[in-house]
Amino acid sequence: MRSLKLSKAFTLIEPGPVVLVTTHDGKQNNIMTISWTMVMDFTPKFAITTGAWNYSFRALKKTRECVIAIPTVDMLDKVLGIGICSGADTDKFTRFGLTAVPGKLVKAPLIKECLANIECRVIDIVRKHDIVVLEAVAAYVDTTRKEMRTVHAVGDGTFIVDGRTLDRRKLMSSKLPAGV
Ligand SMILES: Cc1cc2nc3c(=O)[nH]c(=O)nc-3n(C[C@H](O)[C@H](O)[C@H](O)COP(=O)(O)O)c2cc1C
Repeated sequence: MRSLKLSKAFTLIEPGPVVLVTTHDGKQNNIMTISWTMVMDFTPKFAITTGAWNYSFRALKKTRECVIAIPTVDMLDKVLGIGICSGADTDKFTRFGLTAVPGKLVKAPLIKECLANIECRVIDIVRKHDIVVLEAVAAYVDTTRKEMRTVHAVGDGTFIVDGRTLDRRKLMSSKLPAGV
């Protein structure tokens, strides 16, 4: 995994991929699947929508840290499996054959098999709307893997895979931050 400039980390979430969020509650690693994400600014800050109905929420609240890991389409069935069982009774790294890699700045692990990983700190929890606000502190991309396509949840059990990339960088230049 190569380090990615933090100023570019928002570009990993802006396309809206289904992501995995890892936590470490002081005893064990856990993973959940999240499709409700949002980029809040370029710094970058992100929001995810989740709450006490998930086991991971306790760790998010207690440690105020997590990693957003971005899987690719070949991992889709694992991603769904992770999202329909709970860390309360399952070691998901073992069950889904994933490798936990220590992060630099947070105790939540990176997932080696994912395309990208973003170490995050929890900077706010908006209980009224079950929004967890995250600030990225380090980001990594695996530039060596063949499969780079991420998936996007429609919400009805179907998923859309990345397609063509259209380059409108010139037209957008006044709205793009420097160096992106
Ligand atoms: C495709 C998919 C997307 C999901 N998106 C979210 C989400 O955005 N927010 C959320 O709270 N749960 C979401 N879930 C459900 C959690 O991943 C699920 O409840 C998981 O079992 C929580 O794991 P935990 O109990 O170990 O924390 C999603 C599940 C799937 C399969």
